[in-house]
Amino acid sequence: MRLSRRKTLALIGGGTILAAAGGVGWEITRPLQTALLPWEKAGQYDDPRMRALSWAILAPNSHNMQPWKVDLATPDQAVLYPDLARMLPETDPFNRQITVSLGCFLELMRMAALQDGYAVAVDLFPQGEDPEGLDERPAAICRFRPTTAAPDPLFAHAAIRRSNKEPYDMSRPVPSAVLARIAAAAQRTEVGFTDDPAEVAELRALTVRAMEIEIDTPRTFRESVELFRIGRREVEANPDGLEFRGPTFEAMRLFGLFTRQAASDPESTAFQQGRTATTAPIDTAVAHIWTVTPDNARASQIAAGRDWLRLNLAAAGEGVGFHPLSQALQEYPEMAAIHDAVHARFAPDGGTVQMLCRLGYGPKIGPTPRWPVEAKIREA
Ligand SMILES: Cc1cc2nc3c(=O)[nH]c(=O)nc-3n(C[C@H](O)[C@H](O)[C@H](O)COP(=O)(O)O)c2cc1C
Repeated sequence: MRLSRRKTLALIGGGTILAAAGGVGWEITRPLQTALLPWEKAGQYDDPRMRALSWAILAPNSHNMQPWKVDLATPDQAVLYPDLARMLPETDPFNRQITVSLGCFLELMRMAALQDGYAVAVDLFPQGEDPEGLDERPAAICRFRPTTAAPDPLFAHAAIRRSNKEPYDMSRPVPSAVLARIAAAAQRTEVGFTDDPAEVAELRALTVRAMEIEIDTPRTFRESVELFRIGRREVEANPDGLEFRGPTFEAMRLFGLFTRQAASDPESTAFQQGRTATTAPIDTAVAHIWTVTPDNARASQIAAGRDWLRLNLAAAGEGVGFHPLSQALQEYPEMAAIHDAVHARFAPDGGTVQMLCRLGYGPKIGPTPRWPVEAKIREA
């Protein structure tokens, strides 16, 4: 997360600290050295599978867990496994969002390979699946073979795709035709969207409330806090999770104003202001988009991920900010009323609402950290 200067000053209670921090300017302004390198190295490998995988690791994924591991032992094959150490048991108890994330990965891998002259045949959950949770079994066997098929035009936006969590300009509507073009990028799921002011206002309130529930439920919020990476050093050491970087967060870290402990104490100023800073951007949605699958099988979750990547790329191509808001879709008891309300609204005849997102025009933002692709290859 990157906060505006004004908002961060509010968060740390004034400008004094920033002024004092001037003396340690180098420490607080030093850019990341390695955490963003995977964005530069994408496609720069000899093995065609590594070329495609080095793009796939840049896929959107819940909490930036990067929950994938790949086995390359068999020539022309990449076997995708869920990394069971990278699950989110509190907010994603059945690993639905993690599986959606694997779908995003597979679609970006497929597009990158196609761009490179390879078709990828994907065999999902070849050894079976468990709806209660992912396990040691592979999520997909991907077989690469040369092709002359045309590349996917959406791949052109892969390097500039972002999840933009900043506030959006509420005075600037996203034209309906643009929304329709974004929605048309989906191939496997039913997509709905709205820019109707009354409906968007209702969804803003609902998604803000869902975020408040997640923050106010100690065990679900703790799961996020444990993934906070505060400042450059922590981000470089663990290029995943929820990052708080940039000069203002470095200053807050140096002065002990922003710690995991303070952030998780509901009585602290850091907690209260963090809660507002997290919910406020959600309340600037200009439009919403969502996807529904007929059931909640693992294959449907993968399909939802594949389409999610496509929608995200289409939004990037249109210059429209795209911010997934999963809280209302999460399957734990405290969220049940909101989860049911969203399903009654978007899937009245049954089915699973897999993703929900706000759209609008926001500030330009940079990429998020990634582990290098080499760290994601399973030992032979
Ligand atoms: C299944 C799924 C669920 C997500 N849910 C949320 C969410 O609830 N809130 C949020 O801010 N971002 C959400 N994201 C976006 C991720 O946080 C984001 O993809 C990740 O941090 C990497 O950043 P990037 O997409 O800019 O590369 C979700 C992404 C996926 C694929």
